[in-house]
Order: sequence, then structure tokens, then C-alpha cells
Amino acid sequence: MAALPWYHKTTIYQIYPRSFYDSNQDGIGDLQGIIQKLDYIKELGFESIWCSPFFASPQADFGYDISNYTDIAPEYGSMNDALQLIEETHRRGMKIIFDMVMNHTSSEHPWFKESRSSLDNSKADWYLWRDKPNNWQSMTGGSSWHYAEERKQYYWASFLPFQPDLNYRNPEVKKTMLDIVRFWLGKGADGFRLDIFNVIYKDAEFRNNPFTFELIPTESNPSGFFQKAKYTLNQPENYEFAKELRSVCDEFGDRLLLGEVSGRRDMLRKYLGNEKNDGLTLVFDFGMMDFKINAGYFHDLIEDIERHFPDPFMPVYVFSNHDRARSILRLGNDIRKAKLLHLLQLTVRGVPCMYYGEEIGMTNLKLPFATALDPIPHKFQSIPRSIFDMLGMTLNRDEVRTPMQWNNEKNAGFSSAEKTWLPVHPNYAGINVERESKDESSLLNIIRAILKIRNEHEALRQGSLELISGLPDNVLGYCRKLNGEEISVFLNFSESEKQFPLTAKNSIFKLSRQDELKNREINLSGYGGMIMKS
Ligand code: GLC
Repeated sequence: MAALPWYHKTTIYQIYPRSFYDSNQDGIGDLQGIIQKLDYIKELGFESIWCSPFFASPQADFGYDISNYTDIAPEYGSMNDALQLIEETHRRGMKIIFDMVMNHTSSEHPWFKESRSSLDNSKADWYLWRDKPNNWQSMTGGSSWHYAEERKQYYWASFLPFQPDLNYRNPEVKKTMLDIVRFWLGKGADGFRLDIFNVIYKDAEFRNNPFTFELIPTESNPSGFFQKAKYTLNQPENYEFAKELRSVCDEFGDRLLLGEVSGRRDMLRKYLGNEKNDGLTLVFDFGMMDFKINAGYFHDLIEDIERHFPDPFMPVYVFSNHDRARSILRLGNDIRKAKLLHLLQLTVRGVPCMYYGEEIGMTNLKLPFATALDPIPHKFQSIPRSIFDMLGMTLNRDEVRTPMQWNNEKNAGFSSAEKTWLPVHPNYAGINVERESKDESSLLNIIRAILKIRNEHEALRQGSLELISGLPDNVLGYCRKLNGEEISVFLNFSESEKQFPLTAKNSIFKLSRQDELKNREINLSGYGGMIMKS
């Protein structure tokens, strides 16, 4: 089998710059802070970092509202810092993925200010303007046509009112945005995570979306609020644009394009292009964020993913990010289950994407909606929080963006400022990098050990995957194969010990001390796991 391109065998660590490490004591993480912690990520075993946006922005949505794509927000640093970050990442043999917010700008972007100023300025058609709203709803619910007095017209914003959508049917807009992509590729970015790429084109005729009984959008079905997102999501032009973007990247060699898209798996797959994968190189598959921690769930998930993303495609395994609950919340904050989840994430066929702090088991911090910095909860002030809790929704994204917990010193070692931008989780004395580094069986050291094995074994990085049948109830097993090398992984998703006969030979990693190989039998403790080489 031909070697896969780097972006199909890489491992991704997501950094939320504001919360990672504060190098200048203002309570806000910054680019120099990331540079100082690159060795930590390298030593942990990740190859790529994806940094959430750090470009010029009023920070109304903390950087997902950009006012200048080729400038850096001063609280994060300068252009020189960004270039140094690229250089320092590369110097360590690592890759850096930028966050490209192509769908919308900030309403403070000079393009939008000009566009809204009159009906006949040079940017008049750069955004989506209409005399009258149609029935479209935003991704966060409710109509998102907003009136601009100057033009006596409404503009469309797929997300929040201060994030007006660009009009990609205007060739100048497309060219300008593709040139921004070229600008950063030219500076050395190894690729992009593409923000809400599934809404980049909207129906050319602005047809009304049809009615549906669905109220709450889910990860695999983004329609909701009683409306099928037929004309606002996953338009055919999006798939074509994915290819165009890919060809721009190809001008620079092998670069990664990871789409934030949503919908059924067959829709996700369309973003990857034809059978040779000439579209985006990877897409998120957020359906798995609603995972259940049992063998049957993951068996079916892997089977379905393998069916939709066979070679030369590669799936992405992701369980947390800056918008959703930390994965450990779904696990009842049970560290044994977190070890099992990440054993799976790092050994299954796919690119794993891990959110900062997940490696030490950082938890959500419950914070009041009323004082949230995140704009989303303010939109839903009138609905009691208990309803969202009941639905398992983390509406206030501040709760998953608290500062990284490095040690048990002031502010968990994140910053020496008096006040950090968001509070540090009070559990930092028990959950922090320094403490867990010293504990052989900590989540952090388990993840480090698994990544080490992954990095040393090509079968895990790029081998095929076969599910193993005939295992005891609630035990999952799969075998990764490449050029004669075979590595099997077994995971016991039950509380009780499991024993079963074995054909493979020597074990290279055990999730817990009791897991062992005895007389050609595998013995897995409750929530135990094993990686085995035959
Ligand atoms: C994406 C980002 C999210 C942001 C939104 C609007 O979903 O992940 O943080 O608020 O897009 O840009």
C-alpha cells in the first residue's frame, strides 16, 4: 500500500489560544504562550496543532468574528509572533493548522461597514442583502435577517447578528478569500480547519425552507426549530467550492483541509470530493459527540464510518471541542472510561483530534448564564437552564473554555495575572499536568503511552481496520494491519472483568495493571484495555 499523505496519518491537538498559556500576565492566553508550550505537546506525542482564531477581531465571538484576516489581535500578539509560532512548530517537526472563518466576517470588518453604507458602494454585493426576509432561521435559532437602516435592507447572518455572511456568488469575494488562504499558506500554515463550511453557499433564489416537526437540531441532523435546512445547509455549490479550495492548497503541496460540516455521513463524505479525494482532505463527524460508552455503540460507529470513509478517505475521531461539552462529562467524570475512550480514539483508523485539557480530564465548569462572556446563552436567557441541562446541551461555551490547568500554583499556572479572562476551574489542584505527569497511571501518561505506540507503529498510523468478532459481551476489538504488521486492540466497556481466548502473541500496552495475557487468554479488568502485537 502506498504511504498515506501526512494529513491522513497525523494527530491533532486543538488549542484555544485565549485559554492555553498567558505569557504576558494579562489573564489572556497568547501566541508566545503557545510557543512556550510546544514542547509539552510534542512530548505528549501529537504532530499537529490546530489553533482557534487569533486574528484581528472585536472578540464578540472570541475570534470567530474577524475584522482583518491578515492581522493578529493585539491581545494574542503580533504578526511576528504568528510567524514565529509557525517557525517554532516546524522546527519541532510538527504542523500548524489555522482556523479559517470563510463564511462570515465581523460586522466591524471594513468590508461590511462599506457594504452596509449604501446600495451602490464597491462592496455593496459582498454580503447577502434582501429587501424582505424569507423564512430562514439561523444555526442558533430564530430569524437571522437583520435590518440596516442605511440601505433599508436586511442582511443575512447564519450564526449571530454580528457575523454577516459573505456572498460567495460574487467572484471578487471568492477571489479575495482564496487569496487570504494563499497568504497564510505562503507564510507556512500547513492547512486549515474550516469554520461552518456547510453553510458557505445559500440557495441562489432564497427559497423558503420547508417545515419539519423537528425542534432541536442534533449533531447528525442539523435541521431544527421546525425548519428543514434545505436551502441553507449543504448546498451543491459547497462541494464544488471544497474542490476549488483544495486546488488552491495544492499550489503549495500537501496541505490539510478539515471541514466543520454537519449532517448525515453520506453528506459529509461529499465534501471530500470524488473517489480520489479531490475535495477537503478531512471532515469532522460530530455525530460521534453523542457517543454512548458501550462496545455495541462503537462497533456500529466504526462499521458505519469504515463504510463511508474507506481508503483513500480518512475519518476524524473527535469527542470534544470549544463549542461542546468536555467528553468526560458524558462519562460521568469517570477517568477509567476516559482512558478507554482515548485508547479507542488514538488507535482506531482515523485522525484523532483532541481538545486541550482533555488529556488530563479537565471538566466543564458550571457558570451562570447571566454573566456569560459567550454570546449564545444570552440569546436564550428566558429559557430555564435546567431544560438545557436535561437535554445534555452545553449552551454556555465558557464552561468548556476555562484556562488550561498546568500545575497547582496560582491560576493553575496558566497566568500570574490577578484575574484570568474566565475563572480557572477550582478542581485544578487535583487535575493538572504537573501532578498527572508524576503519576504513572494517570490519564495523561496513558495518553502519552498510547501516542508513543501509535507513532512507532505504522499499522496504527495508516493500517487497515477489521473489527474482531466473537468477543464477550461489551468487549470491542479491532485489528489494524499494514505490510504484514498486525496490531489488535481490545477494550472492555463493562465494569466486570472479562476473559477470553486469544490467538495473538505479545501485548505491548495495558490500560490497567490487571489486564494480562495468561495461557493464551486475555484478561481485561473492568474498563480495561490492551494493545497487542502479533
Ligand atoms: C463554529 C465555531 C464556533 C463559532 C461559530 C461561528 O461553529 O466552532 O465557535 O461560534 O462557528 O463562527
